[in-house]
Amino acid sequence: MTDAGIQLIDRTEASARLPEFERLLQLALKAQGRARAPYSRFNVGAAVLGGSGAVYPGCNVESASYGATICAERSAVVGAIAAGETAILACVVVTPTPEPSSPCGICRQLLREFGTDMPVFAASSVSDAVYAARLRDLLPLSFGPDNLGEGRPNE
Ligand code: THU
Repeated sequence: MTDAGIQLIDRTEASARLPEFERLLQLALKAQGRARAPYSRFNVGAAVLGGSGAVYPGCNVESASYGATICAERSAVVGAIAAGETAILACVVVTPTPEPSSPCGICRQLLREFGTDMPVFAASSVSDAVYAARLRDLLPLSFGPDNLGEGRPNE
């Protein structure tokens, strides 16, 4: 059973929905192998599609001060922006769970910065399963850049 707007599909169907899915998936799987997760031992890889068409990897990087840890999805976004991208068009995240784990709340919020239509795929590195959603389905009634504009009447 899935929530409205979130579907459990497979990799073939994900490629049919997003032509760059396979490219993003392979990059995310490679990044998952580079994750630094000595505390949780939960390796996560991610990849985002930039507005230029280039793809960027990310992985989780944990800290002994646990709160300083960064997730794979945010690390991919940071890499894309640092490389000069201004738009993020899609995100694929890979977790080592047979049922894919979907992005945490903080990552959803950062991805939301780049649009509520954004396709987000949560894939598994140990099964063919993929959750497919749009950002708005993962973060309904979200707070975003437009809200700040409305809150500043003097500008
Ligand atoms: N993690 C991610 O990289 N992405 C998520 O969306 C969920 C959690 C990481 C953070 C931490 O290093 C480990 O997974 C366990 O929470």
